[in-house]
Order: sequence, then C-alpha cells, then structure tokens
Amino acid sequence: MKLKAEEQAMLDGKYGPGTQLAMKVLVAIGEAYDAPYMVPVTRTHVALSNQEADLWFAERLAEGGAHCRVRPTVNPSFNWKQCEAFTHVEPEDLSIVKRTHAAYTKLGAIMTYDCTPYLERNVPRFGEILSFSESSATPFVNSVYGARTNREAAQSALCSAVTGVTPYYGYLLDENRAGDVLVHVEADMQDDFDYQMLGYFAPRKTGFGVPVFEGLENPSKEALMNLGAQLNTGGNVALYHIVGFTPEAPTREAAFQGKKPKKEVTITRADLETMRSELTAPGGKIDFALYGCPHFTIDQVTTIAEIVKGKKLAVPMFIMTSSLTKNLAEKMGYEAIIREAGGWIIDDTCMDQPCWKFLYGKRGITDSPKCAYYTKRRQMDFVLAPLKDSVEAALAGEY
Ligand code: F3S
Repeated sequence: MKLKAEEQAMLDGKYGPGTQLAMKVLVAIGEAYDAPYMVPVTRTHVALSNQEADLWFAERLAEGGAHCRVRPTVNPSFNWKQCEAFTHVEPEDLSIVKRTHAAYTKLGAIMTYDCTPYLERNVPRFGEILSFSESSATPFVNSVYGARTNREAAQSALCSAVTGVTPYYGYLLDENRAGDVLVHVEADMQDDFDYQMLGYFAPRKTGFGVPVFEGLENPSKEALMNLGAQLNTGGNVALYHIVGFTPEAPTREAAFQGKKPKKEVTITRADLETMRSELTAPGGKIDFALYGCPHFTIDQVTTIAEIVKGKKLAVPMFIMTSSLTKNLAEKMGYEAIIREAGGWIIDDTCMDQPCWKFLYGKRGITDSPKCAYYTKRRQMDFVLAPLKDSVEAALAGEY
C-alpha cells in the first residue's frame, strides 16, 4: 500500500508500539483487500465485548501508549451496579468489566456503552467515511444515512480510532455500493416486528449481495434498527437499499447504479411466518421478558410503560437501553411505572454478557431474533413475539 508520511511514521513506531500495532493491522487488512492507500475516518464505533481476546488487544494497544485520534463510542458492557439489584455478579466477571473500562478509557474512547450510537451520540452525515463495528450500527449508518463503512471488527475499528485512517476498499468505493439483488417484499409490513423477521430471513434468498428492497413504505427508525440488526445476524449484510426511501436509492435504477439486478427474489408473509416459527420456542409458560437488543428507544420504552401502567408483571422484565434513554425514561415517569410493575430498565448493558447467568436454562420472551440467536449457546430459550403481545405475555406469565 502507498502510505502517507504520517502513516509510515506510525508504522515505523514513531508514536510507540501501540499505534504501530494498530497501523500494522490496518496495513495487513488493506493488503489483503488490495486497497491502494488509506483514507481518513471522521467517526468510529467499537463493539467492545468484555471478551478475553477483545480485552487482550485493547490492553496491548493501551500499554503500548496508543491514544485514539478519532475517539470511538463503544458498545454496551454490563452495568454491574444496577445488575447487583437482581443478581449476584461474579468477581471474575466484575474484574473483566473493570479492566475493559480501564483499557478503553486509557485509549481515549468515549464510554457511551450503547449499541445504537447512530441515533444519539455518533450520527454521521451522507458520504462521511467511518469505521464502525456492531451489527446493527454498520447497516444503519451505511444504508439509512448513506455514510460509508466496511463491516468492521471491534479490533479493526479500534485500530482506525487510534490511527485516524482506514484502508480504502469495499463499501467505501462507489461501485461496491450498487445493489445486487432486487427483493420484492409482498408481505404487508404490519409493525416493527415484521422487519425483524424480514431482516433475519432475507439473506437466505439474497446471499452475500447488497439487497435492494421494493415494497417497504416509510419504516420507522425502530423498524430500520431491527431490519439492519437482523440482516447482519441472519446473514452478514452491512449495506442495503430501500427504493424511494434510503438516500442512495431514490429510484430502482439509482440503487443498482444503472445495472441490471443479478437476481430477483420475492418475500411473502408466509416466508416471515415460517422464519418466526423456526426461530421461536413454542408458546407456554415463560420465566422472564428481555428487551433492548438493539437498545430500546424512548418510544419503545413508552409502549411498554403504557401497557404495564398500574399492573403487576407475572415474570420479571428487563429492558436494556442507553443511559440517555434511561435518563429520559426517569424524567418522564416511565421508569417508575415499569419498576412499580416489577420491571427494570438497565443502561449500558448487552444481553450477551455474564450478568444474565441467572437466566441460563430458563425460557424468556423477546421481540428480537438477535437476542434469541446469541443466547442459544447459553441455553436460554426464547419465545419471539411482537412487542405489545410479548408485554401482555409477561403480564400473564405465558404466551
Ligand atoms: Fe446490542 Fe448486545 Fe444486542 S450490543 S444489539 S444488546 S447483542
């Protein structure tokens, strides 16, 4: 790769071994993808995970004196102070949380701990070049805002945060952003939950290509969060277009950059129903309800508060969200309503964290296939249902 003098200086170790390692990783990625050079990034988001490998890498950069030139926002960890109210937090889990916090803080990250930074704290404009990891964030910034990022790992995004650059390849290039597969959505999309199923199911028909959806009208921001998160869980889709809605697809022709689609597929209501029946546990008694994968918005919290107001939940309910949304929920009285009913709003926390050990082996209800997918390896079983129906089930104790 052709490097600028400053990039070469980073690679040569002028800024210490941490920055040197970050640049080495990016050069290796660039060479693997035949990137001709690096380009500056203006925003980064790192899917910090509290896993050993993630911590090892972050500590290695921090101990090597690295400091972020483009400070990233970060994914949720778990809020142990809040979790201690309903579960015992193991000392080894607490230790990794604290070490992760210390390493990323030392690197200069902005410790937002939320997985929807694209809604509140790290919002790009059209065409901006970014390095974003996190499965719901990458498709959202690429598709809904028309910003440009590859599907980064936590580590590659962190390397870009440290160096301020990313290799120029993949979705940063105009030609790679053209649609590949035309998707005729023939299902009437009744609510945000249908977008969960559409996102999880579509990659089965579209494969690895960039899908272009036709037949979707004015999806809400929650529907778009759901669509992107599931496209990148059921498949590995980091970019999609919606004709007449997303900025690079004012028309079908524009979405395909004047070329013919490589393939056309149709998705019907029957496909969405089949998908749901494959993913969901059968109905019956439930032990808990878990929401916020991705983190809930204030509108979703409002929906729950309105349903449970003045009632008692038959099973505990946990709602994960950002600290900004939790703060808003407190100010607006929703937190008190949900606590009164027997539920909890928890900020800074992801469902794929060890604070949920007390739910392993139990059966819950959620509206998120991503939540159900990640927790299968933890022997958590989930009934999947639209938000309102699932809250009613939590009040009844069964679905
Ligand atoms: Fe967010 Fe964790 Fe789900 S990062 S999207 S709550 S897997």
